[in-house]
Amino acid sequence: MVERRTFLAAAVAILAISSTAGFPAADGEESGSKSSPNEDFLEKAVSNIESKGSAISEFFKEVSKDKDPEHLKNIADYDKLILSLIYSIREDGSLFTDFILLLLDKAYPAKSDAFTETFKNKFTFTEPDVINVLQYLGSRKDYHYIPEHVLESLFDVLNMTTEEKFNKPVIEYGLEKGYAKGMKRLLGNKTTVNEKGDSLLHVAAENDYMDSLKTLIDEGIPVDVKNKLGQTPLYYAAKNEHNDAAKYLISKKADVDSRDEDGDTQLHIAAKLGDMEAAQGLIEAGARVDADNEGQTPLYRAAQYDQKNMMSVLLGNGANLHFNHNGKEPIHIAAASNHTTAVENFLRFEVKVDARSQDEMTPIHWAARSGLNQMVEFLLSKGADINSVGSIKRTPLHEAAYWAQYDTVKYLVAHGANISAVDYSGQKPTDMARYNDQYAMRDLLKSIEKKH
Ligand SMILES: *[C@@H]1O[C@H](CO)[C@@H](O)[C@H](O)[C@H]1NC(C)=O
Ligand SMILES: *[C@@H]1O[C@H](CO)[C@@H](O)[C@H](O)[C@H]1NC(C)=O
Ligand SMILES: *[C@@H]1O[C@H](CO)[C@@H](O)[C@H](O)[C@H]1NC(C)=O
Ligand SMILES: *[C@@H]1O[C@H](CO)[C@@H](O)[C@H](O)[C@H]1NC(C)=O
Repeated sequence: MVERRTFLAAAVAILAISSTAGFPAADGEESGSKSSPNEDFLEKAVSNIESKGSAISEFFKEVSKDKDPEHLKNIADYDKLILSLIYSIREDGSLFTDFILLLLDKAYPAKSDAFTETFKNKFTFTEPDVINVLQYLGSRKDYHYIPEHVLESLFDVLNMTTEEKFNKPVIEYGLEKGYAKGMKRLLGNKTTVNEKGDSLLHVAAENDYMDSLKTLIDEGIPVDVKNKLGQTPLYYAAKNEHNDAAKYLISKKADVDSRDEDGDTQLHIAAKLGDMEAAQGLIEAGARVDADNEGQTPLYRAAQYDQKNMMSVLLGNGANLHFNHNGKEPIHIAAASNHTTAVENFLRFEVKVDARSQDEMTPIHWAARSGLNQMVEFLLSKGADINSVGSIKRTPLHEAAYWAQYDTVKYLVAHGANISAVDYSGQKPTDMARYNDQYAMRDLLKSIEKKH
């Protein structure tokens, strides 16, 4: 059994060597009264090593083989030391990862492919090694020093290993085996795991890894955490018919109608993507079929993004084609929002082109009011009446004039709008110009009137 003194001496020797070799020295090396994270970390690593006789003797054999401290002059020497350390302690059934990570940081003070290469080419991680590391990372509560770049490199190596051996990325592997804490630690400061912006909780929910799912929630990952598309873990659980996972998430206050930053619910998102499985699953989990986002329901989203099958599914589940929002139906909102595809799909599902909103306005009134000539043109092509009148007998031209839509006034007149139409109080489109002191609009209409 080697004595404590010897270990400390060895550790100090390594620190000394590292500074002569041009690696950054550890903080607090000068034995200051304040113990730095690094020094603390080293202390712990050393006492950790001390408790494992056989591993240490192996380690020592390797370090003391060459009495010359120049032994550890370059990265290759560090690799040798690190690898031999890993190999020897593997026999003990555990990795002294604190210490190894410290050495890694010394050998590779910044993120480098060289580190990954070293492991790839010179060392073969076995399944127990991977498990060891993940267990180790998850079991530690007290340490505070694993540099991000070391974690990143470690991640790459583990990812490579699990891909090779188990045909899945380390995240899936680790969560499947229940090493949720280790995975969280392995990600370091990162909270997402792929280009979709999924969190660990998404992966656990998507794959029905219940143990990890529970642990991650206990670890404080917000139950309705969203990826880039705004999808929550519950979305994934519902989509994949993982009922237990879905129930568990809901029991932890997950909201099946959780909204993204644009106010869309999970079902809106599924509708927009045409994600049929998700829509079915979400509805079964209790999602509101007619969830309202400023009058735009999931059915609206499906119409807008031309998801016709989705429209059928939603209608089959009771979605309302005539959903009322402040007196307007979806087709009126679509006309006012220039959502041509949505209008087209509503018509396809047999909404009337002259459907009436509150005040008896038709879609073309709304398009005219918003100055959307292309929408006006589209509605006319679908049989809309250019002179249709609302409850106060105003035509689309009245609306365009009132709202100062110059181009639309011109367009409507050019396409047969009646410049002499009068509303319930006898006012013509020209009179509308009065309302907002629109002198330019008045002049425009007067000049049009003269021509007629
Ligand atoms: C893990 O490995 C796979 C396959 O090699 C790769 O596609 C994926 O991007 C890797 N993951 C990360 C986070 O690097
Ligand atoms: C990672 O997080 C730690 C603790 O919150 C912080 O001190 C460190 O600067 C972060 N590192 C990076 C690279 O963002
Ligand atoms: C309305 O949508 C059409 C395409 O359908 C587009 O060309 C036009 O620029 C849009 N109009 C406005 C005002 O955004
Ligand atoms: C235009 O509106 C006026 C007033 O309502 C009506 O007398 C006239 O017949 C309309 N003209 C056309 C072409 O519809």
